[in-house]
Amino acid sequence: MIETIDLWFSYGDREVLKGVNFKAVREKVTVLMGKNGAGKTTLLMHLNGLLKPKKGEVRFDGKKIDYSKKSLLELRKKVSIVFQNPDEQIVAPTVWQEVAFGPANAGMGFEKIGEALKLVGLEGYERRLCSQLSGGEKKKLSIADAIAMDPEFIVLDEPTAGLDQPGFDAIVKLIKKLRNDGKGVIIATHDFDLAKKVGDRFYYLDGGRIVYEGDQLNFELARKIGIRTYGFGELVISNENGKSGDLIFVLNEDSPKEIFDRVLNAILKASEGHRVILNFKNNCLEKIKELINSEGKK
Ligand SMILES: Nc1ncnc2c1ncn2[C@@H]1O[C@H](COP(=O)(O)OP(=O)(O)OP(=O)(O)O)[C@@H](O)[C@H]1O
Ligand SMILES: [Mg+2]
Repeated sequence: MIETIDLWFSYGDREVLKGVNFKAVREKVTVLMGKNGAGKTTLLMHLNGLLKPKKGEVRFDGKKIDYSKKSLLELRKKVSIVFQNPDEQIVAPTVWQEVAFGPANAGMGFEKIGEALKLVGLEGYERRLCSQLSGGEKKKLSIADAIAMDPEFIVLDEPTAGLDQPGFDAIVKLIKKLRNDGKGVIIATHDFDLAKKVGDRFYYLDGGRIVYEGDQLNFELARKIGIRTYGFGELVISNENGKSGDLIFVLNEDSPKEIFDRVLNAILKASEGHRVILNFKNNCLEKIKELINSEGKK
């Protein structure tokens, strides 16, 4: 288990984390959500000691990190971070050299390299130049870097940013495989679809504080993560007299299931920045809530 206890952090006098209690365990996918600038990346960087709390502590399996060279080395063997921007991470000229870099530095063997490249779908890319990879391929390579270290926890910062649908599907599959292999996976993401597909536990960070923690990605959470309350998406549920032009869906209780499915999709997409306006009649709101709840449990 990796956890932060009453963690405070500031860059200069800009306070970014204000007493964060966060916990992630093996064999589970822990999802951290929150709007831009909420402090997600800053929190993740504490999980392998890249940043040191101003106050509070980070513990690994109950043991407090003391920031000595030895304890940092140990921690980094167990917790690998994949950065939001692969260009910040990729250092070597070729794909094989890149994935070998971490294990070589840690005095480990190279057995995991082939497997790591295969897992992310970069088999056969060994001799390619990193600088000539596409954005999505670089993303996959940066994930292979982490897997090659065979850590107990893998931290992924925005793993699906910039990926197309097959790339997205591959990441979903990969995350599930890592979890099934017993790894703890921690993800910071804006991607509601990804969160829904792989998340076991959810945190929502707002203004440096955890404002939601739970194992359901449900309607309440959707509201909390911004569909209505915050900036990066909006769900407006109007009554029957909703302004014309605003109207996207008109529903009543016996609307066909496909319409409800489309609504549900639109709501989930809302977290990606769409504005969704529903015009509902009678008990539709209850039906929509039910749908979202059952979707959240899948
Ligand atoms: N090195 C830095 N120096 C000063 N301020 C920083 C630094 N890195 C981040 N910040 C600020 O700290 C706050 C939190 O940033 P952070 O990158 O943790 O947010 P985030 O939740 O990951 O955002 P995003 O969704 O955009 O990735 C932001 O206001 C950011 O401008
Ligand atoms: Mg970030």
